Amino acid sequence: MSEKKITISGLQEKKDKGEKITMMTAYDYPTASLVEQAGIDTILVGDSLGMVVLGYDSTVPVTMDEMLHHSKTVTRGAKNTFVIGDMPFMSYQVSVEKAVENAGRFMKEAGCDSVKLEGGSEVCHVVKAIVDAGIPVCAHIGLTPQTATKLSGFRVQGKDAKSARELVQAAKDLEEAGIFMVVMECIPDLVAAKITKELNVPTIGIGAGKDCDGQVLVYHDVVGLFERFTPKFVKQFVNLSPQIREALIQYKEEVEKGTFPGPEHIFAMKEEEAEKL
Ligand code: KIV
Repeated sequence: MSEKKITISGLQEKKDKGEKITMMTAYDYPTASLVEQAGIDTILVGDSLGMVVLGYDSTVPVTMDEMLHHSKTVTRGAKNTFVIGDMPFMSYQVSVEKAVENAGRFMKEAGCDSVKLEGGSEVCHVVKAIVDAGIPVCAHIGLTPQTATKLSGFRVQGKDAKSARELVQAAKDLEEAGIFMVVMECIPDLVAAKITKELNVPTIGIGAGKDCDGQVLVYHDVVGLFERFTPKFVKQFVNLSPQIREALIQYKEEVEKGTFPGPEHIFAMKEEEAEKL
């Protein structure tokens, strides 16, 4: 169980000492509480919420209201864990003013400790404005699911030397703009290692190999609660869906057979009171 919330300097210290940083997504109170009990450094309320919890086909439809609603439950469930709120599609693209306002809502209304947004060098002016407003920003480069259509689908990024060099440059530009950390999704491990070496701020990988300063995965993938597809980079640490399905089938059968509730689940009445009924 985390005793004290890690700070941005604590995360930086971990990178500087070569200690790995852990991050897990969570979207609700009970999960956030379990993640905190596991002692994981940081929680990302990812907009993957849209796919693994809300049933959308992509992260594009996710709204600020949905993100804030779920972020609030997470910060209530994990009071001693550093929480990052993920800015949904179109919450930071329309104008810098709107981006700062929406980032502020994650802090003021949902109690998050920072925000994350997707994009490379092209979002640096937005990152700088949010950071200047006093809000810590985590960047997200490589495969950026909100703009997967523009990237021609969910593909590994930075596979050739030219695009890899662009990713390295994007990471450096974002660092210059003031980010405290960067998530790198679906990029070759060598590119992630180079960025990790060249940046001062911590890097968190998802499908980016083991040489990042830390790792993040989507909770529902880790515990087997998302059955639609499993990306190559996921390791499922437990497969809960079959166990939950089995429990539900058993519940249905016991209710139908009348074996549940049993004598141990009922509230008995005193005999003399029952006689007066
Ligand atoms: O939305 C999310 O969960 C993310 C992670 C995959 C990094 O952005």
